Amino acid sequence: MERIILTGDRPTGKLHLGHYVGSLQNRLKLQEDENTKVFVMIADQQALTDNAKNPEKVQQNLVEVALDYLAVGLDPKKTTIFVQSQIPQLPELTMYYLNLVTVARLQRNPTVKSEILEKGFNESIPAGFFMYPVSQAADITAFKATHVPVGEDQKPMVEQTREVARDFNRTYGKDVLVEPDIILPPKGSGRLVGIDGKGKMSKSLNNGIYLSDSADEIQKKIMKMYTDPNHIRVEDPGQVEGNVVFTYLDVFDEDKEKVQELKDQYRKGGLGDVKIKRYLNDVLQAKLQPIRERREAFAQDRDAVLEMLKEGSLKAEAVAAQTLDEVKEAMGINYFK
Ligand code: TRP
Repeated sequence: MERIILTGDRPTGKLHLGHYVGSLQNRLKLQEDENTKVFVMIADQQALTDNAKNPEKVQQNLVEVALDYLAVGLDPKKTTIFVQSQIPQLPELTMYYLNLVTVARLQRNPTVKSEILEKGFNESIPAGFFMYPVSQAADITAFKATHVPVGEDQKPMVEQTREVARDFNRTYGKDVLVEPDIILPPKGSGRLVGIDGKGKMSKSLNNGIYLSDSADEIQKKIMKMYTDPNHIRVEDPGQVEGNVVFTYLDVFDEDKEKVQELKDQYRKGGLGDVKIKRYLNDVLQAKLQPIRERREAFAQDRDAVLEMLKEGSLKAEAVAAQTLDEVKEAMGINYFK
């Protein structure tokens, strides 16, 4: 059976290694599958739900995120890359779905709940932000996505989408919308930790290595990386667990034997932090250099990037328009057809 994939990112910053291992690698695999149609959306409208007062941030990062996609090898011939705000059918679907969702249900959405605290909205929650799970249900159902590959934090969104789809079909008596399944990252490959070892890599914690970082920036970040605070002298035994250098070697170094050797040596003592950091630097530079070079090449022609997004958005719009037609027909509001 054909699978339809829809996923996306908010354009609030450039993409980093956490995005690369958490989602981009998986999308690269999916786009090679002949029985899979892949839609990747830059969710600028959703980004605006908590950035209404600084739209420049969203505008600027739109092209940056697109460059990151192209740099890692997302291919617009295989993957439809599009911009949320350019698909008017999405907010239109959202309006109809909103009538099927209660305020209480939105208040219970765990991701919305924790974001409200995180962003310090208190009593001043923007209404658009509050209802973004419904808008996300529109993103997903407009393309009749069968699968949504996202992180654990997006589980409540997919769950709510399933509820909307089910309720719509039941209410209007037609199987118009598809209930999507979530594809979670494989167990153990959870969110990549940041270079400070404190939490997942994220822009807000300022602990990321970006796909666009220069060789020099990468090296500096690796030299600052959290290791084992008790590993003071080279000859001291060191701890590998929770040591970010080894976490990254586990993720990025294909030479597993070598990594095991280094771990054994580090545990025993006699292997210095600078040495393992230099080794990791070689591994990461080899990985990121071709990505950065492709990124720089694409960045030479930003108009071409916008043109790519425009073409993707036109393709996406045609699909969403078809779904909207079916939705209005099921609801009996296609008066002039
Ligand atoms: N909420 C997602 C995020 O914060 C972005 C997003 C918007 C999305 N619409 C989507 C993801 C639809 C998957 C499907 O990263």
